[in-house]
Amino acid sequence: MQRRKIHMLVLASGFLAGGMMFGSSNAEAGATAEMLANTCAGCHGTNGQSGGPAMPTISGMPAEYMNSIMAAFKSGERPSTIMGRIAKGYDAKETALIAKFFAKQAWKSAESAPQSKNRTLINPKLASTGGKLVKKAKCGKCHEDDGMTQDEDTPRMAGQWVDYLLFKMQDLKNEHLAIPQPKKMAKRINKLSAFELEAIAHFYASKK
Ligand code: HEC
Ligand code: HEC
Repeated sequence: MQRRKIHMLVLASGFLAGGMMFGSSNAEAGATAEMLANTCAGCHGTNGQSGGPAMPTISGMPAEYMNSIMAAFKSGERPSTIMGRIAKGYDAKETALIAKFFAKQAWKSAESAPQSKNRTLINPKLASTGGKLVKKAKCGKCHEDDGMTQDEDTPRMAGQWVDYLLFKMQDLKNEHLAIPQPKKMAKRINKLSAFELEAIAHFYASKK
């Protein structure tokens, strides 16, 4: 049910973005980083600060991480509903410009985003359970400072949308999707129940 809801959100925003011609002729000479990055705003929000629960906030994402993710979306190594198609619309030079632009934008936690009717509100009790689970599973070995830290191969999770985090972990656990991820993480995630994933999503979302 959760998935169905999210896919509908994805479709709705795809509809919006269609008007912006992503993946078509953005290769025009002289496009600035800001102009290129504007195409992403329809889904990821202004400057990458997402306003909708199914879309990850990407502001402040380290450029190396975004470059490698975009390349993996493009090649299909990383499964996606829509990003594969979008990534194909940019060459490596344009992607590098876009990545540099987003890396410079400040992170804004989802909580402070304009209200979205569809989002799941953070449940403090679930978040506290999630905190204990994360500690037990030692997710902090890589996701340091309660998911606040991000570097060239680990994304920020603190303050991300509850819905996106849950959706992503369900996908990470789904072996048919085979999303690239560290073996040490897959081992940990695979052991978690649906309820535990939900609690963890609330925990990371509750951190600012
Ligand atoms: C039509 C909506 C849409 C547009 C436009 C869009 N994205 Fe996305 N983006 C998504 C969705 C949905 C996901 C989750 C993966 C998927 O299902 O495709 C995503 C995921 C991502 C991720 C992975 C985040 C993570 O933490 O794993 C990055 C990076 C990203 N997008 C960058 C961009 C950039 C850069 C642009 C503009 C060039 C862009 N996106 C335009 C919808 C969009
Ligand atoms: C060995 C290091 C490591 C451990 C341990 C680890 N992770 Fe990760 N995690 C990563 C890396 C690296 C990525 C980025 C993978 C990619 O998409 O390329 C990631 C990505 C994620 C994402 C996707 C975030 C996004 O914005 O797309 C989630 C959610 C996540 N991890 C949750 C967890 C949880 C929950 C645990 C503990 C049960 C955990 N991780 C343990 C390294 C780790």
